[in-house]
Amino acid sequence: MSKSIQIAVVGSGYVGLVAAACFAEMGHRVICVDNDERKVAALENGDTLIHEDHLPELLARYRGDGVSFTTDLAEATRESEAIFIAVGTPQSESGDADLSYVEAVACEVARSITGYKVIVEKSTVPVYTNEWICRAIERHGIDRSQFDVVSNPEFLREGTAVADFLHPDRIVVGADSERAADILEAIYSPLTTGEYYQRPDAIPGVCSTAAPPPLLLTSTKSAEIIKHASNAFLALKISFINAVSNLCETAGADVEQVARGMGLDSRIGPRFLRPGIGYGGSCFPKDVAAFRSVAEQLGVDFGLLTEVERINAQQKKRFLSKIRSALWTLRGKRLGVLGLAFKGGTDDIRESPAIDLIRMLLAEGCHISAFDPAAVRRAIEVMPEGPALEYADDAYSAARNADALVIFTDWNEFANLDLERLGKTLRYPIIIDGRNLYEPQAMAEQGFTYLSVGRATSYPVRQPAAAVST
Ligand code: UDX
Repeated sequence: MSKSIQIAVVGSGYVGLVAAACFAEMGHRVICVDNDERKVAALENGDTLIHEDHLPELLARYRGDGVSFTTDLAEATRESEAIFIAVGTPQSESGDADLSYVEAVACEVARSITGYKVIVEKSTVPVYTNEWICRAIERHGIDRSQFDVVSNPEFLREGTAVADFLHPDRIVVGADSERAADILEAIYSPLTTGEYYQRPDAIPGVCSTAAPPPLLLTSTKSAEIIKHASNAFLALKISFINAVSNLCETAGADVEQVARGMGLDSRIGPRFLRPGIGYGGSCFPKDVAAFRSVAEQLGVDFGLLTEVERINAQQKKRFLSKIRSALWTLRGKRLGVLGLAFKGGTDDIRESPAIDLIRMLLAEGCHISAFDPAAVRRAIEVMPEGPALEYADDAYSAARNADALVIFTDWNEFANLDLERLGKTLRYPIIIDGRNLYEPQAMAEQGFTYLSVGRATSYPVRQPAAAVST
């Protein structure tokens, strides 16, 4: 039976809140700290703040009995053995991560240390942050024997964050002291021993008692680099396939076939090879820029990362040109837009390519009716309704009388639209799909002009396919 440990999680964003709920699910006692009183009050009152599978049920199960919420970091520090820092590390103007929130937490923790504490960086931070945290704490007169700083990067994806946390591919613990490593190993032991997966009420996922996740112990610096390098590598895969998709378009090949053919090579793997309108979200753009900046600061030429960013920015512009190519001119055109979130399954619009593209289309003089199953509320905050922009209640309302329908986000429901109804709703049966959710041939047979990424445009088939080929 694993030991229950008292944990403080500082920051109630995606990573912090999910970590807090999941640590409670693993049998630990958690104090979740945020300096935003409104957030804390909302969490105490049963709000989950973010759209995330399984999170409402876990918070409902443990709120007040396993997880408590507070603004008082000093008290949470005094009461806890391990303090996880999961605050934001936004991008500064030069691309590097702004670590002022991490520093503020480290100083506040230092002021409240009474006995030995392990301080865990869970926020995505550049290499050497660990050392800076140590120095900041020491400056408060705390002896090195009173604390350790550990790096424990988080790899969860939005939308599947809870399952990712409880069923990770790996747990990375960068610790330079045995004492700290032991505490982290104890915290994760319900997962690494497989004990958690025996529970009948365990959140389902890929791990099991027979196949529990490995815990990789590394130095703190290696752990810090593992996180940045992993995200940058995944972004690179996406930019690579997007560049290949442009080649396919010009050569008359089909990028979906190419990606499948590449992905079947087990050394490459099929994941993160989906072409589209470029990656977005709160992590990839920021982390690639931060990793590039770290390399620059350390005097290492890592121009590949600049190219990854360039391809990603270019991909949006290419898609704008594609929309224009379908409609001839854009000024005064009415577009139905499906998708605001940076990917399906989340309400997050941070660095969303959909939002960027809507802004570009509005600047070109288009009228837009946009729909997203979860992200409308957040989109209104940054792009209020106006004469050229309205938000629709569903996909068909967005499409009503539109000159074309544009798909920006890979929500499952956008891949399962009633095409007959859509055809009747649109003014012209044109669909420009930035996520390759449909088969070009099938769309042609349904009477659509269909443009997608890395594949030839298909045009309405008036006769059955067999008759056309003879
Ligand atoms: C990512 C990492 O996957 C996760 O490990 C890390 O902890 C945080 O950053 P997330 O930002 O939630 O997670 O989204 P992810 O599913 O990785 O997608 C990122 C972006 O890439 C999205 O805009 C998505 O649409 C895009 N993407 C992803 C593609 O365009 N093609 C793909 O094949 C995969």
